[in-house]
Amino acid sequence: MKALERTCNIDDLRRLAKQRLPRGVYEFVARGTEDEVGLGHNRTVLDSIKIKPRVLTDVSRRDTSTTLLGRGQKLPLIVGPTGAAGLLWYQGEAQLARAAAAAGVPYVLAMSSITPLEDVRAACDGQLWFQLYLSPEQEISDGMIDRARAARFDALVLTVDTVVSPNREYNSRNGFSVPVTVNRRNIFDFALHPRWTLGVIGRYLANGGMPRFENYPQGMRNSVAGRQKQRWAPVKRDESADWRAVAQVRKRWSGPLIVKGIGCVEDALAAAQAGADAIIVSNHGGRNVDSAVSPTQLLPRVVAAVAGRCPVWVDSGFVRGSDVFKALALGAEAVLLGRATLYGLAAGGEAGGLRSLTFFKEELDRCMAFAGTPDLAAINAHCLQDFGLVYR
Ligand SMILES: Cc1cc2nc3c(=O)[nH]c(=O)nc-3n(C[C@H](O)[C@H](O)[C@H](O)COP(=O)(O)O)c2cc1C
Repeated sequence: MKALERTCNIDDLRRLAKQRLPRGVYEFVARGTEDEVGLGHNRTVLDSIKIKPRVLTDVSRRDTSTTLLGRGQKLPLIVGPTGAAGLLWYQGEAQLARAAAAAGVPYVLAMSSITPLEDVRAACDGQLWFQLYLSPEQEISDGMIDRARAARFDALVLTVDTVVSPNREYNSRNGFSVPVTVNRRNIFDFALHPRWTLGVIGRYLANGGMPRFENYPQGMRNSVAGRQKQRWAPVKRDESADWRAVAQVRKRWSGPLIVKGIGCVEDALAAAQAGADAIIVSNHGGRNVDSAVSPTQLLPRVVAAVAGRCPVWVDSGFVRGSDVFKALALGAEAVLLGRATLYGLAAGGEAGGLRSLTFFKEELDRCMAFAGTPDLAAINAHCLQDFGLVYR
């Protein structure tokens, strides 16, 4: 763990993750889609926003805590849902959930997880939310919701932005799939990364078999993604779903319901209208529509249109506490992290996940001091020098 202790920021964690993971697994996490324009665009927009430094404002007592869905959190952060996180570390979802609990923030478990949701709950007594994709068969979605309720998950995140499988060509080139298969495109990759091959795949094999989507109904757990012509699409999604589906989920799930994957003002309004308790403006980290707008760029327009009907959260491209500060200044109440915490997980399991969140905490706190904002309520549009590439 010496290498982990030497890391100073998310990019250091990313480099460690890259060393540790086979190329196919690393690229599954780090890359975008098609020409990866969206990946760069998310960062370009965040980098274009400038924070106004303020001096002599007494920032001796600073507080990064907030309230999300009526519950106190130590930070305005949420560890976002990331399918197959359990490929980065043995039972990685449980490790990341524990890291989130230690940092005092919620963890969203992806439906496409390697670790069963009941096991993640057993490993972690913090805030756990469950992420759902709509399946063509209603019983599958209903069954997932019921399991999440039985396992005492605190909120449901309905992801609506991945109706078909995205065009991530590198997954098939790398021979990447879940369940993991050994093939001519990845055998050397695995051989060159024995720590991962033995420490992750070896441990799964010793405890029941190749990692697979344990939350899916029995017959679908072995569905293969990424092989040959098939792209990364663990199970079929409901391509016929419309906004009535949200109302249906709402009926079955009585707890907080969050709609994730909002990419325009019209859909933000529709989600608020459908009864979402919060919405997440997201382009899935630049992984789905390569030419989608950066969620940060869109944020002020969404916040203005939603006009307080429900909280607006955001993700895609966040790697620094100052990025989080910018999102808060533009009206978001919280930021979800995807790759940033996955890199920590791959670099050092629970400790690495916590290290990632600690970087965000320290950087946000420092940024607040420089901007003269002792608490999150003090952060607003006046804290920005200009809005950069953001739509007003
Ligand atoms: C490897 C990986 C897997 C993901 N799987 C899911 C998923 O199963 N469900 C979902 O709603 N979002 C998924 N996402 C998207 C994230 O929740 C989040 O929107 C995105 O990663 C944010 O961008 P960032 O990685 O730049 O922080 C995934 C992201 C990554 C990187």
